[in-house]
Amino acid sequence: MYRSHNCGELRINDLTKQVELSGWIQKIRDKGFIMWVDLRDRYGITQLIFDQERTPADVIELAKTLGREFVINIKGHVIERASKNSLIDTGEIEVLVTDLNILNTSSTPPFTIEDESDGGEELRMKYRYLDIRRNPVKNNLILRHEITQEVRKYLSDNSFIEIETPYLIKSTPEGARDFVVPSRMNPGQFYALPQSPQTFKQLLMVAGMDKYFQIVKCFRDEDLRADRQPEFTQIDCEMAFVDQDEILTTFENLVKHIFKAVKKINLDKFPVMTYDDAIQKFGTDKPDLRYDMTFVELNDVTQHKDFNVFNIAELVVGFVIKGGNSFTRKDIDKYTEWVKRPQIGAGGLAYMRIQDDGSFKSSVDKFYDQSDLKSWSEKSGGNKGDILFILSGDKEKVRTQLGALRVHVADELNLKDPEEFKPLWVVDFPLLHWDEETKTYHAMHHPFTSPKTDQIDMIDSDPSAVRADAYDLVLNGNEIGGGSIRIHDKKIQQKMFDCLGFTKEEADKQFGFLMNAFEYGAPPHGGIAFGLDRLVAIMGGNEIIRDFIAFPKNNSGRDIMIDSPSTISEEQLKEINLRLKSK
Ligand code: AMO
Repeated sequence: MYRSHNCGELRINDLTKQVELSGWIQKIRDKGFIMWVDLRDRYGITQLIFDQERTPADVIELAKTLGREFVINIKGHVIERASKNSLIDTGEIEVLVTDLNILNTSSTPPFTIEDESDGGEELRMKYRYLDIRRNPVKNNLILRHEITQEVRKYLSDNSFIEIETPYLIKSTPEGARDFVVPSRMNPGQFYALPQSPQTFKQLLMVAGMDKYFQIVKCFRDEDLRADRQPEFTQIDCEMAFVDQDEILTTFENLVKHIFKAVKKINLDKFPVMTYDDAIQKFGTDKPDLRYDMTFVELNDVTQHKDFNVFNIAELVVGFVIKGGNSFTRKDIDKYTEWVKRPQIGAGGLAYMRIQDDGSFKSSVDKFYDQSDLKSWSEKSGGNKGDILFILSGDKEKVRTQLGALRVHVADELNLKDPEEFKPLWVVDFPLLHWDEETKTYHAMHHPFTSPKTDQIDMIDSDPSAVRADAYDLVLNGNEIGGGSIRIHDKKIQQKMFDCLGFTKEEADKQFGFLMNAFEYGAPPHGGIAFGLDRLVAIMGGNEIIRDFIAFPKNNSGRDIMIDSPSTISEEQLKEINLRLKSK
């Protein structure tokens, strides 16, 4: 009806063909007797030519009224371009127009709809439907589609079935706040939107659906960051009759399949690291393995002199930066200022240069001689031309600080290649973590995660030491998935609720349905959920997930295009039995 070809399709071997195209006008160049128009659709751009000598006069006249983003339909035939454009696939041809039909006019768009737009982020978000016409955003959505298709293909081929679970539910404990929805038919009562389908997928295992998946929206009311949205999508999976190894293998193969199918990249076997090792070597449970700078602990070679800062520290720890001896004094001052910022909170930064002649120069030369520094250099594996950065202090804090510095140095030195992909399984997470503020234990993953079976008794005697059958998949320093083997024994689940400070009544009220289900033959089971937005963003070479979501929220959780959240009418409030407190 509207087109014989799309705008990305015609090539030199289509010369002389009669064609019909429809699309949006990206650009007009009017030279008077000849006019060129770039016609755009999802598939590409085709150049149209209106030529006074070859195009009917009434068509030329109509063409003079065209403007940017008008929607038009043309007929014409394919001719060879005089000056070819090797940058686009259709660059060798143009279409000499014989018929023109204006399907719709357009107001002048608020920003240029080209790869490099002049529009700021807020403006582009307000007019997201125009932003999506641009290649970078459009291509991100296409990438997302391709990845989603491959996920469905792999999982279906491996006997998983996709089952939808409800959105109007009650609280699922994933650690964030719930978004709640008032119920009109049940005055004073609320649904919660799922933070994940966790409890439902476990019920599906009790129901015998032993391989489940769902590409599903989840909702979490938490502070936003580049890698967090209040509504985001999980590839949520669960399996029965499996152990941790089987789960890791199944989903490692899923990720490998996606990379192979979508990016033509063969990933090697994913390394596996324990949580404790990750913290000790990189100061984080999601280390980026695209660069080295592994931590070295220096207590035994630093605490024998009169330097009190090191002597009283629980941990003296550092890392080597290859070629870092080229840092100027000013560079080092900048790093020092950076670690002293309140967000990081280090007292200072010590360093040792390994100079080109093999001698050492440190910021603490007053306290240490060359033979001391030599032992630091040997311990840390530094070479001539490198620098060693050192922090000291309380173990937990200093590791976090040095971990942040490691990432910052990598940013500054451009060590993060967006086209390099380094996945990593982090396993053996602690089951619980102690919250100083509330003086209670929280589930590190969620309360359904199984402790290691040989450590169940330690839940009473030494809760902090208990490790869980819980794992994360980390990709380039981002947590892209997390899961665990679940508790399927009602008694252990009850013990876990006790430990988390739930009274019997609270546990019954919130999770009675799950505990009941466990009375009827719950199989051993476990699973994982991937953050689809994060996976797509990293595969797209950028860690800002907003850019890979068709209609995202801004940093204050607002959709500025539809202006939401917004107030509702008195009438709606009354219907749901809510009254806003008057100020
Ligand atoms: P978890 O809470 O670790 O596990 O979530 C799984 C993955 O979802 C992604 N993710 C997010 N992505 C974008 N915005 C957010 N606000 C956000 N929050 C989480 C992360 C994370 O790794 N039910 C368990 C899974 C299981 O045990 O099977 C769960 O939801 O990539």
